[in-house]
Amino acid sequence: MSTQNFDSSPRPSSQSIDTSPSQWPLGVEGVVYGCDYNPEQWTPDVWREDARLMAEAGVNLVSLGMFSWANIEPRRGEYNFEWLDEVIDVLHEAGIRVDLATPTAAPPAWFFREFPEARVIDRSLTPLGPGSRGMACPASPAYRQACLDITRKLAERYGDHPALALWHVHNEYGLPVNESFSQDAQEAFRRWTKDRYGTLDEVNRAWGTAFWGQTFGVWEDILPPMPSPSVINPSLELDWRRFSSDLILECYIAERDLLREFTPDIPITTNFHSCPYVDQWRWAQEVDVVATDHYLTAAEPRNFVELAQTADLTRSVAANHPWMLMEHSTSGVNWQPRNIAKQPLEMARNSLSHLGRGADAIMFFQWRASLKGAEKYHSAMLPHGGTDTRIWRETHKLGNDLVSYADVRGSQVQAEVAVLLDWNSQWAQDLEWRPSVDLSHRVQTNRWYERLWRDHVTCDFAHPESDLSKYKLVVAPASYLLSDAAAANLNAYVEAGGNLVVGPFSGVVDDNDGVRPDGLNAALADLLGVKVQEFCPLRIEDSADLNYTSVSGESATLVADVWCEDLIVRDAEVLGEYLTGPRPTQAAVTRRTSGSGSAWYIASDLSVGDLQPVFADVYRQARIELSDLPQDVEVVLRTNSKGEKFATVINHSERQHQLTIPGTDCRIEIGAGESTVLKV
Ligand code: GAL
Repeated sequence: MSTQNFDSSPRPSSQSIDTSPSQWPLGVEGVVYGCDYNPEQWTPDVWREDARLMAEAGVNLVSLGMFSWANIEPRRGEYNFEWLDEVIDVLHEAGIRVDLATPTAAPPAWFFREFPEARVIDRSLTPLGPGSRGMACPASPAYRQACLDITRKLAERYGDHPALALWHVHNEYGLPVNESFSQDAQEAFRRWTKDRYGTLDEVNRAWGTAFWGQTFGVWEDILPPMPSPSVINPSLELDWRRFSSDLILECYIAERDLLREFTPDIPITTNFHSCPYVDQWRWAQEVDVVATDHYLTAAEPRNFVELAQTADLTRSVAANHPWMLMEHSTSGVNWQPRNIAKQPLEMARNSLSHLGRGADAIMFFQWRASLKGAEKYHSAMLPHGGTDTRIWRETHKLGNDLVSYADVRGSQVQAEVAVLLDWNSQWAQDLEWRPSVDLSHRVQTNRWYERLWRDHVTCDFAHPESDLSKYKLVVAPASYLLSDAAAANLNAYVEAGGNLVVGPFSGVVDDNDGVRPDGLNAALADLLGVKVQEFCPLRIEDSADLNYTSVSGESATLVADVWCEDLIVRDAEVLGEYLTGPRPTQAAVTRRTSGSGSAWYIASDLSVGDLQPVFADVYRQARIELSDLPQDVEVVLRTNSKGEKFATVINHSERQHQLTIPGTDCRIEIGAGESTVLKV
C-alpha cells in the first residue's frame, strides 16, 4: 500500500476546521449509556445474562470487537464469525445497539509470526513482539493490508445488521504505539519530508542543519530521531512528531474509507485519549463524531479539575457538537501505581461533569470485570462481586438517571473564554535542551485552566489560528511555538477589541522551532508592547517574589518558582514587578491596551492561587461576570436550539450548599458529593 498521500500541511486553519453537524450513533434514543464489552472471555450463557443486566441498567450502546481479531480470524484467511453473530443478535434482541470495532489494535499471534518485519521498532531500535496488545508498525504494508482485509470482512458481514449504530475504528490510536523506526517508517518519513518541503535545500533551511554540520546531501541522509551521541536536531524531532501523528492517522483513514464504501450511512469514529502524540484538532476533522476516553489520575486528589479540562477540550475539538465519552471507569483502574477506588457518588459526579460539558454519551471500560488477563483488577459496570455491590447499584442508578436527562441531548455549552492549545507547541516545548525542564507545557496549561475552573468560568479550548471573535477573553498559557498566521490572528483579535493574556515562554519559535531573527518573542512583542531580552529560569531551590498591583490599586505579593524573564517594556503598563530573584525591579506582568482590546503578559510561572489577582483584573477588563458559586461546586449550562437551558450541578465539596444557578432565579440545595442535572 502506498504511503505517499500524507497531508503534511502544517495544521488546520480556522477555515479548514469542519463545523458541519456531527453525526450520532444511529437509532439510540436519549443520552447514550454503555460500555466496552469483551465477550470472548465468556460463554454464551453469560452473554445472555449480560444482555439482560445491561438492559436493566439502561445500557443502550455497546462497543464490541476491539480486541477480537484472533477470535474472528484464528488463522490467516480463516474466519470464525459465528460467535460474534450470536453476541450481536443477543444484544439486538435485548434492544441494545452496537458500536462495532475494527480489531486492528491487537493483531493476532499468527500475524506477528508470518510478518515479523511488521513489528514496531522502538526508539532504542528494539523490535516489539506480541504477547500484549498494540498495533503493528503503522507504516508496514503487511499490517495495513491485514487491517483492510479484516475491516472488509466485518463490513461485509455486519454492514446491514439492524443493531449496527456506529463503527469504532481501532482503539486509542497513539497508545501504546505512537512511533516506529522500522525501515518502512524510515522511508515513509523521507516521503513525508519530501512532500512537505519539496527540496533538500528547503529541508536544510527549515531544520537549520547548518548548525553542528548536519547538512543533508541526499534524501537517504534523512533518518528518524534514532539513538545518537547527543541531542537530535529539534526541528527534525518536531517534524517526526507531526509525521508520526499523520502516519497513524493515515491508518485510520484507510479503514474509515473502506467502511464508508460499504455503509455510507453508518457514522464512524475512533476513541481519542490523553496520549499527547495525537493532534486532535487535525484528527477531529476525520471522524463523524468525536469520542474520547478519560481516566482519572488517582494520585491527584483534585482530579475532577483535569476531568473537566479534558471534557472541555473534547467538546472544543468536536467544534461544540455533542461528543461521546467512550470509556471511563466505574471505580479504580489497574495501570497506575496506586489505583484508588472511587468514593461513593464519585462515578456519578464524573459522568455528569462530562455530560455537563457536552458529552451525550457516557460509557465505561468495561461491562463485566475480567477474571483473567492484564485488566482483571480494573473496575467494571458489573464488578467481580456481581449485582449485590455498591458499584452495580450506582451503575444501575446512573443509567436510569440518564434516561431522565434525555432532553439534554444536542444542547450546547456556550463559553465566553477560550484557552489556546496547539499540540505542535506542546511537542516543541517539551523537546530536550530547553532553558528549563521545569517549565512544562502541560503544567502551565493545567494551572491556567484550573484558575478558570476555580473562578467558575466556563471555557472552550481553541487553536491559535482559529476564529476567536466570539470570545471576550482568550488566554494563552503556553504558546511557545506560534506560527506567523497564529500571531497575525492574535493581533487581529486584540485590534478588534479582544482581550488576550499570554503566559511565559510564548511566541518564541516559528513552525520549525526556529527563533525569529528579531528577538525571543518577536511574534508577540509588538502586540504585548514588551520585548524579551533573556529567559531567566530559576534553580530548583530558588524563587522570585513579585509585587502585583491590580488595576484598581490593590497590591499582592506573588511567587515565581521556576521561571522569570528579563523584559524590555516598550509600550505597556507594568502591573507586576520582581522584588527578588534574578531581575529585581524589572517587569513581570504587563498590560497593553489597544482601543477596547488588551494584551496582557505574565512572564512568570505562577501557581493557581497566585494567578487569582491577575485573572480578577483580566475578567474585569473583559467584562466577564463572575458568579458567587461556592468553592468546589461546578455548574455548567447547556442550551438547546429552543433556548431551553440545562444546568449540571456537581458538589465536589464535603458539605451541603444552597446556591442560585448563575443567570437564573433557580435556587437549589445540593448535598455533599451530590450531582444533578436540572432544566432551568
Ligand atoms: C483504555 C483502553 C481500554 C482499557 C482501558 C482501561 O486506555 O482503551 O481497552 O485498557 O484503558 O485500562
